[in-house]
Order: sequence, then structure tokens, then C-alpha cells
Amino acid sequence: MTSFQALRLHDGKPEPARRIETLQPGDLSPGNVLIEVAYSSINHKDALAAHGRNGIIRQFPRIGGIDLTGCVAASDDARFTPGDEVIVHGFGIGVDHDGGHAQRARVPGDWVLPLPRGLTLLEAAILGAAGYTAGLALHWMEHNGLTPERGPVLVTGATGGVASIAIDMLAGRGYQVTAMTGNSDAHAALKALGASEVIGRIGSPASPKPLEKARWAGAVDSVGGQTLAWLTRTMQPEGIISAFGNIGGAELDLTVLPFILRGIRLIGIDANSPMPLRRQVWDKIARDYRPTRLERIGHCITLAQLPEYLGRMLQGQLQGRTVIRM
Ligand SMILES: NC(=O)c1ccc[n+]([C@@H]2O[C@H](COP(=O)([O-])OP(=O)(O)OC[C@H]3O[C@@H](n4cnc5c(N)ncnc54)[C@H](OP(=O)(O)O)[C@@H]3O)[C@@H](O)[C@H]2O)c1
Repeated sequence: MTSFQALRLHDGKPEPARRIETLQPGDLSPGNVLIEVAYSSINHKDALAAHGRNGIIRQFPRIGGIDLTGCVAASDDARFTPGDEVIVHGFGIGVDHDGGHAQRARVPGDWVLPLPRGLTLLEAAILGAAGYTAGLALHWMEHNGLTPERGPVLVTGATGGVASIAIDMLAGRGYQVTAMTGNSDAHAALKALGASEVIGRIGSPASPKPLEKARWAGAVDSVGGQTLAWLTRTMQPEGIISAFGNIGGAELDLTVLPFILRGIRLIGIDANSPMPLRRQVWDKIARDYRPTRLERIGHCITLAQLPEYLGRMLQGQLQGRTVIRM
């Protein structure tokens, strides 16, 4: 097959036009490895980009999709041969280089990660950039001393892609997990993923105290804004927060007191890691952190359904991980 199908985004007002088109490999952004995409997924960033939010995509036309799994179809890079199973995420795919929302992708070999032993292409796609983010958060939290014995770990934005996988990974490693969600219908599903307790989102106190009751040994935060500020006030002494999201706001209104009176640690997580760290964390995800409930977290759609589901993610109507079977 030389021609293939892709969801291409075209410049438009008030938002990009989203069209499923038939393309040739030469239409793709340049690269020396051509991949037959097996699966891609929808991350929050993909939904924002496809609807022209936050100026994520600056050059059109563009194929979105910040992650993909598949098989090498052709390669000018000696490290890869046709048939190799691979993962690609980040490095600007789906943003300033054509991404995974297509049956073919072409990328530089330096961006291509061989599929870790022990994962299938579907499992790696359910994980995708979201699962890598959850794994990276756990990696740095444990590197900083988090252990299950230290106490409960809170996961915010719990029904989201990153958070669902984080709950599964943490529970599998023996952590006591509290899930924070705004979705009152999701409590049973979050417990089935491994949460031992489910709580609602925080309200917004008019004048918060700089320190509140110390509750969490660890926190995995999708939300940012007031939620992250509240986390700093409610961590146990030496508690560790990993912060990667801003879905609830980018501003942070903090005092230094939790840092200097309780020794809390705030770790920033950027999933666009250099390749050696990716290899290390993906190997952990495939073995030590391996989620055990991925079939509950992932659900597959077709490329034809993708435009509708990108809109549904923006409306907050999706839970877990939506995977596109190419
Ligand atoms: N730093 C990085 O490298 C990196 C990597 C991946 C993702 N991210 C960011 O991490 C965040 C989560 O990504 P995702 O792909 O998991 O997104 P997602 O699947 O859309 O999940 C986000 C979850 O956050 C909660 N939420 C939504 N709006 C909220 C609001 N206004 N206030 C509080 N909670 C809200 C919802 O969960 P409930 O209904 O259960 O509360 C939602 O399911 C996003 O901000 C994304 O951009 C960053």
C-alpha cells in the first residue's frame, strides 16, 4: 500500500478544518524511518491542537497525534529494519511534525524507540504518551524516596488518561491510592482500577491557610492551579508531588512554608525526555511498573470516529485512554 488515510488538520477560523484524506508517503514530514502505524491515541494535547486551542499547531496542514505504535515499513537508518515493532511519542510529532493520526508516519530514526519486550503494540498504545508520563512521575517520585510504607498517594484528575494509568501502576506497586475526581459516576470504576478511596475535587477557599492537615505522602497531579497549590499545603513532611498538568490552571499561588517547614518536594514532569531516560522508564513500565488493568483503561475507535472523539475529549466526555486502531 503506498497511499494511506490520515486525519489532516487545515488552517481555518475559528478552528482548524479536520478532514480524513488519502495521502502518499511523500506528503508526510521528512524522516528516514517510515512506519506502518498500528495504533495511535487521543491525549489532551491532541484535542486542544485539533481545535486550534493554545496555538499548539503553527503550521498547516498537519497530521495530529503525539504518540503512535507500529511496525517499520522502510528505513534508511541501519538501526531499524522492516517489521521492527516501535513506539514514537513527543519530539514534536503531532505538533510541528506529522503525527500518529494516520496509517503511515515518517520520522527521524533518533525518535524511534524499539517496543520494550513484554508489551504488545496495543498495550503500548493504551499507555502511549500518557502512560509514559505516569511512569516518569513514578520513576522520579521513587528516586526521591517515595515508598508504599510512607503513606497514601493522591492522584488528581483521576478519570483522565495519565491519572488512570498512574492509579493502576501505583496500586500494582503496593501503594495506597486516593483518587480525586469531579465525576461522581466514576467512583466504582476508579476503585476497580486500584484506588482504595475516592474523593471529590477541592473547592476554592477564600483565604487558605499556608499549612493544612498533612495527608499525602505522594501526589500525582494532572490539574495544576489551585489544586496543586492545595496539594503543597496538605502534603505530609517530606511528601513528594509530581506535577505535569495544567488542565485546572497554569497559575500557582503558593507560600514557601510547606517547603521550609515540612520539606515537601515538588517535581516537574516533562514527558518529552531524552532517549536514554525514555528507554529506562519504558523498560520499567514493561516490567516493574507494568499496569495490570489496561483492558479497563483503553478502548479502541476507528480513524473515521476520531474527529468526533477529539471533540468529546475537549468536552470532558472521555475517560481513560482512547486508542485509534489504524
Ligand atoms: N508535562 C507533560 O509532559 C504532560 C504529559 C501528558 C499530559 N500532560 C498534561 O496533563 C494533563 C492531563 O492530561 P490527560 O491526557 O490525562 O488529560 P485527560 O485525559 O483529558 O484527563 C484530564 C482529567 O482532569 C480532570 N479535569 C478536567 N478539567 C478539570 C478542571 N477544570 N479542574 C480539575 N480537574 C479537571 C478530569 O478528571 P476528573 O473528571 O476525574 O476530575 C479529566 O479526566 C493535561 O493538562 C495535559 O496537558 C502533560
